[in-house]
Amino acid sequence: MSSKAVRLLVIFSVYLMVNGNNPKSQRTLLPNGIFLVLEVTGQQAQFTLPCLDSTAEMKGILVENIVWMVNGADTRIRGNTFIVYLEESFGGGNYTCYSEERALLNHTLVLLQQVGSKRADLNCTAQNYDGGFHCYWKYPKQSLWTVALVKAERPTALDLDTGGNGTTCRETCPQPEETQLLRVSVCVYSENFILEEYSNVGFYVREIVKPDKVKIEKVNATMAEWSYPESWSSPHSYFPLVSQVVVRKNCKKCGNCTGRLNTTVLNDNVFQFEIKKTKILCVRIRDPLYASQWSDWSRHRSVPMQRSKRWS
Ligand SMILES: *[C@@H]1O[C@H](CO)[C@@H](O)[C@H](O)[C@H]1NC(C)=O
Ligand SMILES: *[C@@H]1O[C@H](CO)[C@@H](O)[C@H](O)[C@H]1NC(C)=O
Ligand SMILES: *[C@@H]1O[C@H](CO)[C@@H](O)[C@H](O)[C@H]1NC(C)=O
Ligand SMILES: *[C@@H]1O[C@H](CO)[C@@H](O)[C@H](O)[C@H]1NC(C)=O
Ligand SMILES: *[C@@H]1O[C@H](CO)[C@@H](O)[C@H](O)[C@H]1NC(C)=O
Ligand SMILES: *[C@@H]1O[C@H](CO)[C@@H](O)[C@H](O)[C@H]1NC(C)=O
Ligand SMILES: *[C@@H]1O[C@H](CO)[C@@H](O)[C@H](O)[C@H]1NC(C)=O
Repeated sequence: MSSKAVRLLVIFSVYLMVNGNNPKSQRTLLPNGIFLVLEVTGQQAQFTLPCLDSTAEMKGILVENIVWMVNGADTRIRGNTFIVYLEESFGGGNYTCYSEERALLNHTLVLLQQVGSKRADLNCTAQNYDGGFHCYWKYPKQSLWTVALVKAERPTALDLDTGGNGTTCRETCPQPEETQLLRVSVCVYSENFILEEYSNVGFYVREIVKPDKVKIEKVNATMAEWSYPESWSSPHSYFPLVSQVVVRKNCKKCGNCTGRLNTTVLNDNVFQFEIKKTKILCVRIRDPLYASQWSDWSRHRSVPMQRSKRWS
């Protein structure tokens, strides 16, 4: 074989290695390429990671002396490329390359995403019709997770505050009369550099409204009352709420209470309900005009504490 043919074969094999079956695909999370996501099946595979992209950037750098570190630990690998071996959940990490003089040249966080692990179960709710919203997710298993990226597009990007297991839009959020679907996606990675991605199919903020739960207060022996949550849109005459009430002798969790439902209507911003001998009062609210989601239940126990317990 001529040397040209050999070179072509080598190029073709490298092409196959990257674009063959495993890893299934590669993509960067951000334009600057710091997060590189490899879609993997768990089977053995390899991936060639470059340090510097173009020869222009290699000016003055002796390529054969480029040093590689993985997660801060030195490796014996020298040169412009690092072959990353992937197997099961291993191979992800922070790959850094340095010049001979130990100047950082590039760093790439290689994240592994299991094929078919994308989930469309990101939950988003809005407390009112003002345009702000909150999305939250459940981290899988036990691990420390880091948020790599949160994206909200409609199709222009929105600014979000992200922390813990949620992300919130507070300013420059969509208007209630928005006509464009909003798509939110979240990428988080574990200590083992496994990527999990949550997203939703797209929504309008007015469709995900779920009022905050109410605070039930006792007026006197026979009357309980609650008012609109502070977070609800005003004026209340324009954004009315209805309450749903369940009264029961006993019930540990309101969501599991089956009893007679009584939907009461607004009365001067305050709902009042006669409790009589009622023991447990469960209340939730919603906007009846747009048929918003119901708020979470609020529970109130109206029997006086038993004498024996008062002193215990
Ligand atoms: C650093 O590595 C990434 C991922 O391999 C690559 O996309 C990027 O171009 C590299 N940066 C430079 C300056 O070569
Ligand atoms: C990866 O290592 C480089 C060099 O130490 C560091 O600058 C970068 O913040 C690290 N990335 C992550 C995600 O830890
Ligand atoms: C999201 O909402 C669905 C349907 O209401 C629920 O089954 C699921 O548990 C929720 N997810 C989280 C993380 O709370
Ligand atoms: C996760 O989200 C739930 C529901 O919004 C919240 O109650 C909980 O405190 C959050 N946990 C963390 C660690 O942020
Ligand atoms: C309890 O308060 C309600 C509303 O303020 C009032 O109508 C009712 O008479 C009061 N009942 C008692 C026993 O004080
Ligand atoms: C709901 O109530 C039923 C019957 O009262 C009970 O068997 C069940 O354990 C309850 N579930 C929860 C989650 O409380
Ligand atoms: C619902 O509750 C209100 C307020 O206590 C009461 O006036 C009404 O009669 C109740 N309706 C039903 C169907 O129980």
